[in-house]
Amino acid sequence: MTRTTPRSADRSQGLSRRDVLARLGWGGGAISMLGAGPLPDFGELRIEGLPAAQNAAIRLSSNENPYGMCQAARDRLQAEVENANRYPFAWSAPLHGAVARHVGVAESNVALGAGSTEILRMCAVAWSERGVLQAEPTFETLGSYTRKFGNRVVGVPVDAEGRHDLNAMSDRLDEAGVIYICNPSNPASTLLPQSELDAFLDRVPGDKLVIIDEAYHEFVDAPDYHSQVERSVASSNIVVIRTFSKIYGMAGMRVGYVVGPRALVRQLDAHRTEMSIGVISAACATASIEDPDYAADQKRLNLEARSILEAGLERLGRPVWESQTNFVMCDLGRPMMPVNRAMADRGVAVGRLFPALPNGLRISVGTPAQMHRCVDALEAVLA
Ligand SMILES: Cc1ncc(COP(=O)(O)O)c(C=O)c1O
Repeated sequence: MTRTTPRSADRSQGLSRRDVLARLGWGGGAISMLGAGPLPDFGELRIEGLPAAQNAAIRLSSNENPYGMCQAARDRLQAEVENANRYPFAWSAPLHGAVARHVGVAESNVALGAGSTEILRMCAVAWSERGVLQAEPTFETLGSYTRKFGNRVVGVPVDAEGRHDLNAMSDRLDEAGVIYICNPSNPASTLLPQSELDAFLDRVPGDKLVIIDEAYHEFVDAPDYHSQVERSVASSNIVVIRTFSKIYGMAGMRVGYVVGPRALVRQLDAHRTEMSIGVISAACATASIEDPDYAADQKRLNLEARSILEAGLERLGRPVWESQTNFVMCDLGRPMMPVNRAMADRGVAVGRLFPALPNGLRISVGTPAQMHRCVDALEAVLA
């Protein structure tokens, strides 16, 4: 792993943190009350019936957004409670239109799903018989459904910088009919250089299907980055998957979507569970995607908190791969599971084991206060 210099979040332009918090509903008086002290601890886990130790945990384990949904989505949630007795067609249709407008494609180029997990399962049902070529490690869902369905997964180790090794993947294209690219990557957190990804896609034969998972697209801060949505719609063999779970803070609501050429979108949609997105989830997702500011605000907050985490890890001498996401992958230089358990004992839940990276600790970005608490806990555990 290479050590990353903490990124300088763009704090000099645009909205201040105060503005962003105000938009989150932490208006005037509440912000003044915060003064210079610590921020409120968004994202504390509180589930009735769980043991106290677990309920005290700061959840930095699942790449969730600690601030949750935007205010407009919260308002819709309250209002739509009245419609929980209705089937969701009248709510999912507007969401479909809103997503198509948001990404700038026709509705026939979009299918919805109950989170991108449902979309990945649809891909596995439709196509995994042809075998899946993917990075190792990568996000597990497509590979695990592929294996469950008795089909083959070919894993190609990531390179020393934690990036998909596109040259090595090119050499193995013959071994599978489906290629899964997670960009930015989970769990590595890295982004592929744009020109390399574009050149790789140029090389992939037209009879192979390419699934590009852009779950973390909205967090990317690289100047030359662009989504593959436009290319996918113009292609006959590429689809792009996105989710409302990350930047929009809706992981518990289960909404995702896939964009691509009509024929492929139709194939996938045939495998969707009908009505899998409920009234309230669809309404909240529509409100989120129509909010003109929320994603940019959340990106800014994420950069700010991630810089604190990265600076803390650098101080502890723990290298990270360069993150373009709402989490970092840190090299502990020793097995991560005992550290993971010791962190949990201190009330900080961090990422799971990725077998290809036994020393890699994935830490999700939370609030600035949570980042300080996480670094303090890690310092104590590593001491
Ligand atoms: C790369 C990637 N894809 C897909 C998902 C699944 O997200 P969801 O089903 O919540 O949309 C995740 C969740 O962590 C992810 O990291």
